[in-house]
Amino acid sequence: MNYEQVRKEESEVLVPTYQRLPLLAVRGEGCEIYDDRGRRYVDFLGGLAVNALGYAHPEILAVLRDESETLLHVSNLIYHPYQAPLAQTLARWAGLDRVFFANSGTEVNEAAMKLARAYARKFHPAQPFEKYEVLAVENSFHGRTLGALSATWPEHYREPFEPLVPGFRFVRLNDVGHLRDCLTRRVSAFMVEVIQGEGGVVEIREEFLRTAQELCHRHDALFICDEIQCGLGRTGRRFAFEHYGLHPDVVLVAKPLAAGLPLAALIASERAAQAFSPGFHGTTFGGGPLQCRLAMKVLEILDRPGFLDHVREVGRYFKGRLRELQLEFPVIREVRGEGLMLAAELTVPGKGVVQQALEAGFLINCTQEKVLRFLPPYIIERRHVDELIAALRPMLAGLAVESHQEVNA
Ligand SMILES: Cc1ncc(COP(=O)(O)O)c(C=O)c1O
Repeated sequence: MNYEQVRKEESEVLVPTYQRLPLLAVRGEGCEIYDDRGRRYVDFLGGLAVNALGYAHPEILAVLRDESETLLHVSNLIYHPYQAPLAQTLARWAGLDRVFFANSGTEVNEAAMKLARAYARKFHPAQPFEKYEVLAVENSFHGRTLGALSATWPEHYREPFEPLVPGFRFVRLNDVGHLRDCLTRRVSAFMVEVIQGEGGVVEIREEFLRTAQELCHRHDALFICDEIQCGLGRTGRRFAFEHYGLHPDVVLVAKPLAAGLPLAALIASERAAQAFSPGFHGTTFGGGPLQCRLAMKVLEILDRPGFLDHVREVGRYFKGRLRELQLEFPVIREVRGEGLMLAAELTVPGKGVVQQALEAGFLINCTQEKVLRFLPPYIIERRHVDELIAALRPMLAGLAVESHQEVNA
């Protein structure tokens, strides 16, 4: 099978939900993937923030081999040995108590919203139909089911499926006054990505986050950090909320958790978790033995001495190199992000750069039309960054000329 055949067959048989780049991936190793013609690409997208350990990591392969000969799936009606130790580690990392396992980021967002409603009913039975609002932040992304979509900001995601779930509101990004107006006793949960991913790698201000946490405490609403993109080492800390010393009631993780297999976790305080009892929520696949064992290995590797230091160090270097490009090319409006969750916002659309980068052997991403986003594996090295920066230079020079010509036309 070559790229053209696969593209043609997919176009005839798949529901057209994705616009793919012209790349047929056939294998990967470390930070690199290879196409059907044996061409190498350095991966600065990391399977959309999933492949934190890169491709074909030997310790992950060893767990896969071993578990594939024992148990793949058992259902949540019986026990297997790995949910408890994984939950213990996640809870300890988050400073929380209990865990619910699901399969995707959207699913744990959905679980968190149900938990918030159940929480309000359990602890505020006098006002069950008043305390149900979920407050999200403008520009946020929490997923694509009807509930998660109701907390997702961009109009183009939501509009085709309206009416969505009632009781959702958005607070203006970093507007503390608006936050004080919105986060009232009617709110059951406030949800936030400490660094907004799909929204273009946008960092939320500390004062806004601290005020939200304080108001949640005052009104007994759940303070929920969606760490699906920014968590589990991505910003150089176990969780992005650690940069601000926050203490969420609920933390959501997914993407890199099981090294490429679907696994997500809702991590909750003891009090929040008490809002659910058997039958309130569940999923067939959530927390399977293979995924849990892989996740235990991922967390063990992330926790090794020096591992997250590397994420911070190479992230700082990468950001510095992007800033150099910004000085050279005013077509870069801003460089943002933390650790290995970085972005260069352009003054012009970035789709062409993604295409040219691919032709030059680099997989990058563009979100919000103008934001080049970089989510490489944590094992990326300075030499990969240098290769990318050198490749981007002529592309940005071309863009600068184009935008100059447009201005003068
Ligand atoms: C912050 C955040 N929340 C939720 C989701 C949805 O996760 P999934 O695609 O695994 O359902 C994403 C996906 O990009 C995300 O970045």
